[in-house]
Amino acid sequence: MTETVLEPVPSAAAEPVLSVRDLSVSFHSDTRTVHAVDKVSYDLAPGEVLAVVGESGCGKSVTSMAAMGLLPPTARIEGSIRLGGRELVGASEKELRHVRGKDIAMIFQEPMTSLNPVLTVGRQIGEVLRRHQGLSRKEAKARAVELLELVGIPAPALRVDEYPHQLSGGMRQRVMIAIAVACDPAVLIADEPTTALDVTVQAGILEVLQSLRERLGTAIVLVTHDLGVVADAADRVLVMYAGRAVEQAPVHDLFASGRHPYTRGLLGAVLRPGGEGKRRLPEIPGLVPSLDSQPDACTFAPRCSRADDTCTGGRPALRAVDRRSGEDASHRAACWHPHEETAPGPGPVPAPGTEPDGPTGPVGTPSGDLEARPDQEAGK
Ligand SMILES: Nc1ncnc2c1ncn2[C@@H]1O[C@H](COP(=O)(O)OP(=O)(O)O)[C@@H](O)[C@H]1O
Ligand code: SF4
Ligand SMILES: [Mg+2]
Repeated sequence: MTETVLEPVPSAAAEPVLSVRDLSVSFHSDTRTVHAVDKVSYDLAPGEVLAVVGESGCGKSVTSMAAMGLLPPTARIEGSIRLGGRELVGASEKELRHVRGKDIAMIFQEPMTSLNPVLTVGRQIGEVLRRHQGLSRKEAKARAVELLELVGIPAPALRVDEYPHQLSGGMRQRVMIAIAVACDPAVLIADEPTTALDVTVQAGILEVLQSLRERLGTAIVLVTHDLGVVADAADRVLVMYAGRAVEQAPVHDLFASGRHPYTRGLLGAVLRPGGEGKRRLPEIPGLVPSLDSQPDACTFAPRCSRADDTCTGGRPALRAVDRRSGEDASHRAACWHPHEETAPGPGPVPAPGTEPDGPTGPVGTPSGDLEARPDQEAGK
């Protein structure tokens, strides 16, 4: 049994700048097929920050790369990705090149691998401007200085002539952001932009993203496994599990009252007191499922204490779970038995195996870092 109602997910504004519908991405090789993304839908309103969260390997980056048209040829993409009304799924490489950098841009976790070590930062920013806006070399350099200033790099007129290795990690990430926003794209996808940086530097990068949203109106998809970053920076959150969207809500609603048991597990891992240090949640049977199949069931069922025959017998659709309706029905969960609308509240750490609700396996770390250990991933 599969629920047929896959309701469109409403955005905060009437006209979303990015609209993803039933996006599925699978990778095919001679030996196996990996269903990395399975019917994910979301809207992004102009100037909105949407955080995409979930454990490692749940399809966050593949979803982002699909929107950028950067997936390898082995990827099979189905569904729709509309950017400002233009369909990107099935677009030619030439069309995508035209859009990339100009209308949609991306920053990655590790700026050093994305920057060219033999070109000055000014040249690298300038190249985008010359390509998309036809600026002269001199004009591009002047604009590069302005952009370095915009992203908070001190002494931009001097820095513009430096090479990536002369900059700190945080400054390099700022340069990447400057390149990404050089043409004032409507959408910026930031894939774990602060993960490689230490905490104080992270805060600065998040401030830059916030100021871009305020000053340029850039809409941002912020991919992260850090719930602290989500709380600080996002307007809305999309929770992904095993390639599927399992919950979507305004950030406050999600933290106050996550409705999907997986979300509750993630939040519980963060909110529990005494969760500092290296201590991990108890090891209880339950692994992130293999992505080799697309079961007609809830993929979280093997780890969920609320699971019953309904859950293993059909895939739950992402449907409204709040009492509001129409445009205000912004909280959605893909669960046959969602939690009631109550704040989870930090309580004492339950003894292993006695958790009343939520997952029965380790779904995060007390620090809020959702990266699964490699040995937690099925098939590894
Ligand atoms: N180019 C690829 N070929 C085959 N499998 C891939 C490829 N890229 C990603 N995957 C698989 O897709 C799944 C989702 O990956 P990803 O989106 O990178 O996860 P994350 O949520 O950590 O960003 C993983 O199982 C990953 O191994
Ligand atoms: S209650 Fe059922 S549908 Fe909801 S997460 Fe648990 S197993 Fe999945
Ligand atoms: Mg990723």
